[in-house]
Amino acid sequence: MRIFSGIQPTGRKHLGNYLGAIRQYVEGQHRSAAVGDVAIYCIVDLHATTVAYEPEVLRERLYDTTAILLAAGLEPERCILFRQGDVQEHTELCWLLTSVTAHGELNRMTQFKEKSAQQRELVSAGLFLYPVLQAADVLAYRAHEVPVGDDQRQHIELMRDIAIRFNARFGETLVVPEHRIPDVGARIMDLQDPTKKMSTTGGTVEGTVYVLDEPGAIEKKFKRAVTDSGSEIVRSPDKPGVTNLLDVLAVARDITPAEAEASMAGARGYGDLKMAVAAAVEEMLAPVRERYAEIRPDEGALEDVLAAGAEKARAIAADTLRDVRRAMGVGPAR
Ligand code: TYM
Repeated sequence: MRIFSGIQPTGRKHLGNYLGAIRQYVEGQHRSAAVGDVAIYCIVDLHATTVAYEPEVLRERLYDTTAILLAAGLEPERCILFRQGDVQEHTELCWLLTSVTAHGELNRMTQFKEKSAQQRELVSAGLFLYPVLQAADVLAYRAHEVPVGDDQRQHIELMRDIAIRFNARFGETLVVPEHRIPDVGARIMDLQDPTKKMSTTGGTVEGTVYVLDEPGAIEKKFKRAVTDSGSEIVRSPDKPGVTNLLDVLAVARDITPAEAEASMAGARGYGDLKMAVAAAVEEMLAPVRERYAEIRPDEGALEDVLAAGAEKARAIAADTLRDVRRAMGVGPAR
């Protein structure tokens, strides 16, 4: 069981990233190791260059993200943690896979439509090819499982189609991966607008809880969370605000949403629910924030972790690339 996932170094990582993805990474590193395989996690700096960005800031964010992942529980001895730009096989495979990717498929990607609408100066060709690079990330490692949040569903569907088409055209070479989207927590909503997902770019600052937020800030954001009419604390489609808070409570406390609902049976109103969620989230994130403060200053040590990860990643990806080039008739026969 080989697990692969990628995470962007852009912006600050939020509760949606943490509950939808990062927690799964940590769980996956143990599950993979238990069956003698390895979980591979990549910080995707090349993807971050597809929208407007500042080079110095990108490097800072990359260290931030590396430190958050380590603080959340990734152990470099148990998994492979590396920076995408360090392993050139990703960009080469991206190009090779464009030959089995339909232009029309890329045009239909909702993230491309959303992100291209946000670009003021330039909609780059890189943004259009973003999902192909993402396919290359996973397919280069012949991964079976891709832990992601719900918003990546379409990108995983596309990489499956690309792998299937490649194998049909050039012979069985690539593994067709499956997504692993958690039942609860896969789509954490913005606290100020619970009809929109929590996000680094599209959401509101007050409605976005960051992994590194101080306890006071976390409490304030939950206290001000937009809830729904009525006073019943139940999950229901016409109560997106309350449903989101109950989902967060469930995942943060590691209980089911039904148990979260039941735990609020004696509550006096939405205020009690907000306080309970804030406390659970603070408790969950406090150790991450503390470890981050210890890890982040030593950029040399972070570089060492990334360099060692890249070396291991390269060895696996180079093997796949040799097979892909051979199957496609690119380069010499042997
Ligand atoms: P990124 O960095 O935007 O997001 C990282 C992970 O967080 C999940 N996520 C959420 N989960 C629940 N609720 C939310 N509100 C929420 N917002 C984000 C995302 O689904 C993701 O799993 N394209 C990817 C990066 C990538 C990748 C890959 C992922 C590049 N190559 C290969 C998997 C495999 C992205 O933008 O992640």
